[in-house]
Amino acid sequence: MTIQAIKGTRDILPDEAERWQRVEEAARRVFRRYGFREIRTPIFESTELFTRVIGEGTDIVSKEMYTFTDRGERSLTLRPENTAPVVRAAIEHHLFQRPDCERLYYSGPMFRYERPQKGRMRQFSQIGVEAFGSDAPALDAEVMEMALSFLVALDIPDASLQINSVGCEACRNLYREKLREALADKVGELCSDCQRRYRENPLRILDCKVGCRRFLEGAPTLLDTLDEPCREHFQAVRQCLDRLEVAYRVDPMLVRGLDYYTRTTFEVLGASLGAQNALLGGGRYDGLVKSLGGPAVPGFGFASGVDRLVLSLPEETQEKRRGPDLFIATLGAAAWEPALLLARNLRRKDLWIEWEPAPGKSPKAQARRADRLGARHLLFLGEEELKRGIWTLKNMEEGSQKELRASDLDALVKELLR
Ligand code: HAM
Repeated sequence: MTIQAIKGTRDILPDEAERWQRVEEAARRVFRRYGFREIRTPIFESTELFTRVIGEGTDIVSKEMYTFTDRGERSLTLRPENTAPVVRAAIEHHLFQRPDCERLYYSGPMFRYERPQKGRMRQFSQIGVEAFGSDAPALDAEVMEMALSFLVALDIPDASLQINSVGCEACRNLYREKLREALADKVGELCSDCQRRYRENPLRILDCKVGCRRFLEGAPTLLDTLDEPCREHFQAVRQCLDRLEVAYRVDPMLVRGLDYYTRTTFEVLGASLGAQNALLGGGRYDGLVKSLGGPAVPGFGFASGVDRLVLSLPEETQEKRRGPDLFIATLGAAAWEPALLLARNLRRKDLWIEWEPAPGKSPKAQARRADRLGARHLLFLGEEELKRGIWTLKNMEEGSQKELRASDLDALVKELLR
C-alpha cells in the first residue's frame, strides 16, 4: 500500500502554492504600512502555555490539541494558535521595552484535531498579527481596518465584519450567572458537552458546534451586561470604525473559542465558504501578557486562515503563466558543457533558464519539452553552432529567428528580455 497524506493535512501543489504566495505577499505589503514586523516562533511549545492561555474548558484545549511526550519526558504541544507563543516570546526577549517590536506578525502552520471538511483542516496555516501596548479603542479600529484592507488587497469580495464586546472579567462573571439563570430549566436538553459547560463556563455554550445556541434565544446578551467602562470602550471602537468608514455588524453572540479575550472581539466572514466561513478572527486580550508573567501590557490581534483565504480568492483571470525565458537544447556531447555554462551565466543575469540535462535527447523531443514548459525562447547548441560561434535564437511566441554572436552575452540578454 502506498503511503498517503494524513487525514486533515494536504499537499499544496505548485499551481496552488502560487496562490498562497500571493496571499503571503499581500499580507507583508499591507502589514508593513501599519508598522508590523515579522516574528517566527517554534512549531511546538510546552503544553502548559496553551492550557493556561487558551483555557482548559475550550474545545481547543479539551479535545483538539496535538500533545505528546518527548524523549525527555516533557509534555509538548504542536501550536494550535500563535497568540500564546508570540506573547511567550515577547516576554522572554523583553520586546515590550522596544517600540519597534510592539507590532508583530507571523505566518505558519497551526494544528488542531478537528473534523476535517472544506476550509477546516488539522494542519492549517494562519497569518496573524499582535499589537501590544495600548488599550485605546482606536487601536482596535485600526487593526480591524487593516484586516479588511488585507482582504481588499486580495480582491476577496463580500467580506463582512462582525464585532462584539465580551467585557472585562467582572462583566463576564455577571453574564455567566445570567446565562445559568436563563438556562436553568433547559439544562437537561443541552448536549452533553454543554451540560458540562453549564457547570464550568456557560459562556462556552455560545460557541457550541451542535446547535445549543438555540436555547439562548431571548436570553440576555453580553452587551446588555457590560459595565460602564467596557460599554464606553465598545462605543468608542464603533465610533472609530464609523469615522474610518468601515462597515460592520454587531453580533452580541460572538464570544470566540479562546478564553483570553477582553472587550472587543471580531470575526470577518467570507461569502463563498459555506459552514467554515470565518476568514479571520481576533480581539483584545488585556490580561494575557500579565497572566504569563509579563508586564501589564494590553494587546489586540487577529489571525486569518490562509487555507480559507486561498479558497476565497477570485478565479484567476485567464492570463497565461509566464514560462522560462529560454530553453537551451543541446545536440551532441560537445554542447553539454557550453550549455551548462551559458545557463549559469544567464541565470546570474536573473533570467529563468531551462535545459535538458539528460544526454542524447532528440532535438524534436527537446523542442517539445520547451513548448510544454511555455519557454519564450529556444536556442539550439550543436557542433555546427559551436564551430561558427553563432547562435540561432528562436522566439517561440512570434515564431521568428535571430542570429547572435556567441561571444556577445549582453545582446542575448537584451533579446531575451525584449
Ligand atoms: P481562531 O478564530 O481560533 O483565532 O483562528 C483564526 C482563524 O484561523 C479562523 O478565523 C480561521 O480562518 C482559521 N482557522 C481556525 N481553525 C482552522 C482549521 N481547523 N482549519 C482551517 N482554518 C482554521 C486564533 O487562533 C487567535 N489566535 C486569533 C488572535 C490573534 N486573537 C488575537 N490575536
